[in-house]
Amino acid sequence: MDKINLEPAIEIIERENSHKGSLIPTLQKIQETYGYLPDQVLNILSKKTGIPASQILGTATFYSQFRFKPVGKYVIKVCHGTACHISGAEQISDVFRDLLGIKEGETTDDGLFTLENVACLGCCSLAPVVMINETTYGRLNPSKINKIIKEYKKRG
Ligand code: FES
Repeated sequence: MDKINLEPAIEIIERENSHKGSLIPTLQKIQETYGYLPDQVLNILSKKTGIPASQILGTATFYSQFRFKPVGKYVIKVCHGTACHISGAEQISDVFRDLLGIKEGETTDDGLFTLENVACLGCCSLAPVVMINETTYGRLNPSKINKIIKEYKKRG
């Protein structure tokens, strides 16, 4: 199990509890801090709130926004909404899978990239669209993707 700093989690849990916050905002804040929901933190949340760990996990897995594994430095979200689907989102995903050697939900061994599928990113006129962290890339094709990945690798 990875060693993580639990202090921020304890602060979040105590603060949210004192405001009688519900579980979802607490989980959101934990994910904002750690990038995912670490097991150790969910155990602490269970102890402090008295909510069984299985119930917390059941709630969290219901929402696709929550992740249970650490993510890479760059999170690649390939849009699979209708417009992007029609414009070849599946081929776009193929190119990323080939280039990075990972499937959706996985992270490259160097910890740089995580690949995800998402629903409409809200800029359908640019289909097919991908978001890498906060940056949007539109009208993608394999050679554009190649260039983009090379640039991110150079940045490290
Ligand atoms: S369907 Fe991809 S941005 Fe809307």
